[in-house]
Amino acid sequence: MLVMRHISKVFRTDLIETHALRDFSLEVAEGDFVAVTGPSGSGKTTFLNVAGLLEGFDTGSYSLDGVDTSGLSDDARSRLRNEKIGFIFQSFNLIPDLDIFDNVDVPLRYRRMKTAERRERITSALDLVGLASRAHHLPSQLSGGQQQRVAIARAIAGDPKFLLADEPTGNLDSLMARQVMDLLEQINEMGTTIVLVTHDPELARRAQRNVQIIDGQVSDYRPYESHVRPVREAAPQAAGATT
Ligand SMILES: Nc1ncnc2c1ncn2[C@@H]1O[C@H](COP(=O)(O)OP(=O)(O)O)[C@@H](O)[C@H]1O
Ligand SMILES: [Mg+2]
Repeated sequence: MLVMRHISKVFRTDLIETHALRDFSLEVAEGDFVAVTGPSGSGKTTFLNVAGLLEGFDTGSYSLDGVDTSGLSDDARSRLRNEKIGFIFQSFNLIPDLDIFDNVDVPLRYRRMKTAERRERITSALDLVGLASRAHHLPSQLSGGQQQRVAIARAIAGDPKFLLADEPTGNLDSLMARQVMDLLEQINEMGTTIVLVTHDPELARRAQRNVQIIDGQVSDYRPYESHVRPVREAAPQAAGATT
């Protein structure tokens, strides 16, 4: 469970203050697949960075999987992030000089994990995204869609509880975008909680829950009524069917 209550986050420069999040509250239950949409500049990336412990916040509270994150040291935050969170970015963020295998290994290297176990996790993550045969290619030798699938393998190799994705299909054509979404759905069905920021209404509709952020707040925010795993809605029966 990810629980944010009354979070505010202000960016200050010499000239201006930007209230990126204001009185922001949201819960994400285990197993959920939440799509987050909203206008540019509304605070989506800031929300995801705070949720992913990449950034702090000014007021409010944030608890991740039962851990109150406010009082944590930098070390403890990093450990919690490495253990619980996988991140996917619009720009893939692969390391160009490392081959695919070593890219997926990067977050695992921060853990005390035997080489054999790392190798097994990397191989099975690359298998899942369909790129096991490319393990010794460089990122530049892959298409954009394949690079994003490597980034997904990197994000899930450590078996995180939460996968946070910031416009992961923003640089992809619509076919590759759908493939990435297929993969995210599959990962969610295997039990990983996903928060996906996207501009694409077609992808957002495929999530279990849609949340809109406007002016640093969830519009129409309501607390969860229960903390059980939400039930996936049945797919519409036929294209064009209404009601
Ligand atoms: N590092 C930063 N320094 C100053 N202002 C920032 C910074 N990051 C984001 N902002 C501002 O905070 C607001 C929300 O940004 P962001 O979370 O990136 O929005 P979105 O992802 O929805 O486009 C914007 O007005 C943006 O300019
Ligand atoms: Mg953004």
